[in-house]
Amino acid sequence: MATKATISDLKTLSREIDLVRKSRGIYDHALPKFEPHKAQREVLDSQKRYNVLCMGRRWGKSITGINILLEDAKRGYPVAWFSPVYRSISDIWDRFSYYLGPAIRNKNFQDKRIELFSGGKIEFWSLDKSPDLVRGRAYKAIFVDEAAIIGNLKPIFYLILRPLLTDFRGSAWFASTPRGFNHFFDFYQMGQSPDYPSWQSWRMPSRTNPYLSPQEIEDARAEMPAKMFAQEYLAEFLPTLAGGMFDRDWFEVIDRVPDDLIMKIRAWDLAASTSENADFTAGVLMGKDKGGKFYILDLVRGRWSPAQRDKIIKDTAERDGRETMIHFEEEGGSSGKTQSLALSKMLAGFRTRAIRPSGNKETRAAPMASQAEIGNMAVLRASWNLEFFSELESFPDPLALHDDQVDAAAYAFSGLLEGGSGDMRIYVGIVGNPAYAAEMEKE
Ligand SMILES: Nc1ncnc2c1ncn2[C@@H]1O[C@H](COP(=O)(O)OP(=O)(O)OP(=O)(O)O)[C@@H](O)[C@H]1O
Ligand SMILES: [Mg+2]
Repeated sequence: MATKATISDLKTLSREIDLVRKSRGIYDHALPKFEPHKAQREVLDSQKRYNVLCMGRRWGKSITGINILLEDAKRGYPVAWFSPVYRSISDIWDRFSYYLGPAIRNKNFQDKRIELFSGGKIEFWSLDKSPDLVRGRAYKAIFVDEAAIIGNLKPIFYLILRPLLTDFRGSAWFASTPRGFNHFFDFYQMGQSPDYPSWQSWRMPSRTNPYLSPQEIEDARAEMPAKMFAQEYLAEFLPTLAGGMFDRDWFEVIDRVPDDLIMKIRAWDLAASTSENADFTAGVLMGKDKGGKFYILDLVRGRWSPAQRDKIIKDTAERDGRETMIHFEEEGGSSGKTQSLALSKMLAGFRTRAIRPSGNKETRAAPMASQAEIGNMAVLRASWNLEFFSELESFPDPLALHDDQVDAAAYAFSGLLEGGSGDMRIYVGIVGNPAYAAEMEKE
């Protein structure tokens, strides 16, 4: 005897039909379509296993990458997207979601994974956190966006990314606007050389994207320094351009702390304290001698939880000693004030000052750059020197990747300047001091 189907049976059935249709891609026609423009078509038609896209800004690198990965993911393969910085992932995530719509079976931003009804999956990684975490996976295709700003691109590729491709004999894509003669440049060269038959590379200006307004590009040409325009819009490899405000040769490197320092400040640039933050906290110790020369004496830097960070600030203060003033950046709003109060309280017994940043970072760093250029700044030789100099030389960075060390140094510098001539009372922020606390509340 046939049993009657209940409403709930029908619902289950229709849900299952839905699943089958989705898994067979029957809904594909409903998804937004990517039609490569002519230059993108050229790239796709001549791709090899390893591909290097050196293209001007807004050429359509990311959109191409998204759709390259989607091809494989829709066919059921695992693929992965790599960004140099964490914060660009959420934008890319949204763009993937847009293209995939109902083809998505499951997505979880926490795990940075989108699963499709096809069985394929897309995983997202940022290389500024711990690239080693990705070990042990296998992908059919990987796309590395903004590859030229990954300083150690080669070791990252050979040690970490390349092995991910072994299982599926997968392919790799590196896309970027050029950034000087770095590892990305080397990969580009390999793509041009007959010695590397599995590598291919292309270099094209932004204007080959027909969706870009030519007027917009002409405006950029008129507004930007010529070399910067050539790098960003014409995709030319040029000696490192970002920055230009500092030169490491301006700094005398010394081996001993001078003994005639009249003032020292440890200034902190604090990373915003969100949990998944990729920003660094940096604390620069700077001193000034009788003759008015400046010395960068120490640098503490890392990515820490708020609790770790506070402990390090406290330990550093103890190490620096009580004659060293402590300045730290205060974020906007009342939460900034609350944080400053907490820090000052923690640092009871030290002379602290919360700095509300004014002007932009370039303006803040400029006076220090002038002193450095006339040879009035020295750096104590230490393992942090290299990283410090390379950040200085790439400052200001149009992508603002990291400038915590420069920022902290600029705070210390301006503190020493003011402190040299002005009223010392402003630095005395010992909490417990009710007058100071009241002042902080007032602001
Ligand atoms: N084939 C295409 N079809 C439709 N729009 C496109 C296409 N290619 C590029 N675009 C558009 O051009 C713009 C730039 O695209 P995309 O963000 O992918 O470029 P990009 O090279 O990654 O840019 P950036 O240098 O800013 O990272 C976007 O508005 C994108 O929608
Ligand atoms: Mg892009």
